[in-house]
Amino acid sequence: MSKEHLVVYTPSGKRGRFAEGTSVLEAARRLGVDLDSVCGGRGICGRCQVLVGEGEFPKHGMTSTAGHLTAPNAVEARYAEKRGPLTDGRRLGCQARICGDLVIDVPPDSQVHRQVVRKKAEAREIAIDPVVRLHYVQVREPNMDDPSSDLRRLQAALAEQWDLRETRAGIAVLRTLQPALRKGQWSVTVAVREGRDIVAIWPGFRDRAYGAAIDIGSTTIAAHLCDLTTGEVLTSAGVMNPQIRFGEDLMSRVSYAMLNPGGDKEMTTAVRTAVNDLLGEVAAQGGIERSEIVELTVVGNPIMHHLFLGLDPTELGGAPFALAVDGGLSTPANSLGLDIAPGAFVYTLPCIAGHVGADTAGVVLAEAPHEQDALTLLVDVGTNAEIVLGNRSRLLACSSPTGPAFEGAQVSSGQRAAPGAIERVRIDRETLEPRFRVIGCDLWSDEPGFEAAVAGMGVTGICGSGIIEALAELYLAGVIREDGTIDGALATRTPRVIADGRTFSYLIRDGEPRIAITQADVRAIQLAKAALLAGIKLLMDRLGDCTIDRIRLAGAFGSHIDVTYAMVLGLIPDCDLAQVSSAGNAAGTGARIALLNAAARREIEQVVARIEKIETATEPRFQAHFVEAMAIPHKTAPYVNLQRAVTLPPRSPTGPEGEGGRAGRNRRRARAAT
Ligand code: FES
Repeated sequence: MSKEHLVVYTPSGKRGRFAEGTSVLEAARRLGVDLDSVCGGRGICGRCQVLVGEGEFPKHGMTSTAGHLTAPNAVEARYAEKRGPLTDGRRLGCQARICGDLVIDVPPDSQVHRQVVRKKAEAREIAIDPVVRLHYVQVREPNMDDPSSDLRRLQAALAEQWDLRETRAGIAVLRTLQPALRKGQWSVTVAVREGRDIVAIWPGFRDRAYGAAIDIGSTTIAAHLCDLTTGEVLTSAGVMNPQIRFGEDLMSRVSYAMLNPGGDKEMTTAVRTAVNDLLGEVAAQGGIERSEIVELTVVGNPIMHHLFLGLDPTELGGAPFALAVDGGLSTPANSLGLDIAPGAFVYTLPCIAGHVGADTAGVVLAEAPHEQDALTLLVDVGTNAEIVLGNRSRLLACSSPTGPAFEGAQVSSGQRAAPGAIERVRIDRETLEPRFRVIGCDLWSDEPGFEAAVAGMGVTGICGSGIIEALAELYLAGVIREDGTIDGALATRTPRVIADGRTFSYLIRDGEPRIAITQADVRAIQLAKAALLAGIKLLMDRLGDCTIDRIRLAGAFGSHIDVTYAMVLGLIPDCDLAQVSSAGNAAGTGARIALLNAAARREIEQVVARIEKIETATEPRFQAHFVEAMAIPHKTAPYVNLQRAVTLPPRSPTGPEGEGGRAGRNRRRARAAT
């Protein structure tokens, strides 16, 4: 019997005894140690690098030393020649053989499931374990005695060399098979999805494959090109959703599909063309061929999701808002007209309900409320607010029809967030004079040099976050009352409050264009925020007596908004302000997680299946909540946490609609403490 040696792998702690001469890679495989390989132990890929722990290890009862591995061989010398010498005494695990007791360290870059450190705004780390993996194989050459096809011999090679016994290939992949085999002189790298579907075949050896995460919004489409080995985002790009020409908002696009025969197909073609172009753009930016993209993940609201997949969205236009399909779906990319690797698939994340889509599933995956005890509120504001509330024991979701006011539409001076748009506003509590900042200039409007700095772009309007700040500041300064009325009595105190027919407006900047907050603007925001808060309150009702521990605002609006002002205005319920923050582009992050980690797909499918869906349109309490939520910040909710951070104007003793206390209150000076 040959001699056996003890081998302990770190950091996993897995250990076992192996016959002298076993390779470090082979021993790792038998123990289930996470040690990577693309070339199948041929000394080409360099993914299997390991380090030997040197010294006495009393815990393991052994001495480990580099001398307990066979000396570097010719394959390692050839690797060093081609790819540069290994550093820090590393060895190729597929070549180094065991000849004594060893502690073997697997560095993070040699682990298959390595973690990617994410930006601090993101909540969780991603373990890299994509559905598509690369396998380098040597295929038997055909000969007259063995009449089997090239595919059969490729499948045999995958079975023998990688233990992949059920592989298959579609016609688009088969068209590339024979040229690849011959060009590679019977050595090819095969991208295999979930151990089964052959996605692409390249001649010779390669160790890089790419995927893209796509976020289809009703206004913009974003793509993130990722290296499936490292998880790194190589490049990102965005484009306006060309469906805008069929309708600004979602419902007008559904109407277009209802009223125009073939309208849904036109919109499907438009979005797929845009996605295809975007893939070409990110591939060019990333310096790769688009055929190297082997997998896509897609998130989007239900209507975007359906149109992209070529599903008629008509049913989503009215109650009961039935989705055609709600589970996660893998669809061949070429059946969607996408030009990437010939056998690539597109994975669409599951939709939660008729109004709560795969984009929200992406937010849930990125923020993982289901893994926490803290009661988390996730809000993604667009023309519909998609809302999720819960923790590991229960999750609820609904959507609320906020309309486009938060995006600057329906507001007299409103505009999209673009250079020249006012994004920050402060109102002096004494003089009621405003100062502001615009996108594209770091100076405040009362600082020297401001006018010169904005001369080129002008001050063109006010964007969504600017409107929220303007209204909240006007409320804190006593210009806007609790019921949302602009106090006309202040016209005698400041020329900024101006009669406007039977109501009043507040002038932020005179000139061309004239930028003012009108009474109708305040009402539009009140209606939007009341719809949002009423939806949240419905979910809170379902949970019974609950306190929200954490609020994450997703999407572009959530990224730019100042959370304190959002709470002052009552867009969101009371919560410790330190626990309220932006989730950034969480839907896109969710798509990226699903791209890089196969298990995350099963996770989100299971989580979505247990989310309780609340339909705001049929909930009798929605209207009552809506009416209460029209007040600033809310008619009855005390906002205890907010009052610790901000001095709110005293409440009217008879409620926001009452007259008592208004005059006195409006003379008081309210001041934000932050
Ligand atoms: S497994 Fe590829 S170099 Fe060792």
